Amino acid sequence: MAFETIIVEIEDHVALVKLNRPDALNALNQQLLGELMQALEEADANDKVRCILLTGSEKAFAAGADIKEMSSMSFVDVNASNLFAAFGDGIQRIRKPVIAAVSGYALGGGCELAMACDFIIASDTAKFGQPEINLGVIAGMGGSQRLTRAVGKSKSMDMNLTGRFMDAEEAERAGLVSRVVPAKKMMEEAMGAALKIVEKSLITARTAKEAVNRSFESTLTEGLLFERRVFHALFATEDQKEGMAAFMEKRQAQFRDK
Ligand code: HXC
Repeated sequence: MAFETIIVEIEDHVALVKLNRPDALNALNQQLLGELMQALEEADANDKVRCILLTGSEKAFAAGADIKEMSSMSFVDVNASNLFAAFGDGIQRIRKPVIAAVSGYALGGGCELAMACDFIIASDTAKFGQPEINLGVIAGMGGSQRLTRAVGKSKSMDMNLTGRFMDAEEAERAGLVSRVVPAKKMMEEAMGAALKIVEKSLITARTAKEAVNRSFESTLTEGLLFERRVFHALFATEDQKEGMAAFMEKRQAQFRDK
């Protein structure tokens, strides 16, 4: 299906999903959120796709939920919006790895969308923030929860209470992003990371993602037990045999997702 607010291209087993509302700095309106969720679910179900790369424009990953659309919403409208609700945990439902490549503004819902991805590669122009407080509301798609887990209480309180932006360097120092690269190199770097993931066994990559995500939902003891069990389970796959045989035979592994 043709989308109006996003562009999806599939190449080399990577689904590149680009937010595309340039006139509104990729503000997340209901249409965009719906199309994005649909595109992510389709990519997750598409056998040709092994990794998803989500990005915006050079100026903005996304400047937040669409304030113009939201401004006249009632409590009932916001409460009824499945899309705001779905995006709080929506991307976690996607089982294939999802990378966010962030350039420019990632504010409010934009920051929350990036944080819902598995990891963030940022350009040196990236600016992260939860400025909802300036609008008389607070973060609504994870900004008080995922940001706190990512950067700790003090910085998260600072961001959520003052509404200030964090630049890419500070975001890397704080552990919000995994890498910072010059703006011109960002897509190359992010695509390089996606292509590295594409080479792996998809069943193993999905399991690694599940195990890391489990760490946010469990005690250390439970998380370690989960990790150990899925580690054991991977020995039931052909890809484990192939990966270890390839190491011993000093050749590249040919994974078959089995
Ligand atoms: C709607 C937006 C928008 C947004 C920018 N635009 N952000 N439209 N919703 N979130 C529009 C502007 O109105 C303008 O269009 C055009 O994009 C360009 O923006 P400018 O403001 O002219 O650009 P600039 O001066 O460069 O400033 C960039 C900016 C600023 C600092 C990012 O636009 C800004 O502060 N935006 C709002 C950021 C924000 O508060 N985000 C949180 C939203 S609440 P026109 O046609 O007017 O010229 C949120 C809640 C999530 O995200 C939780 C939901 C459950």
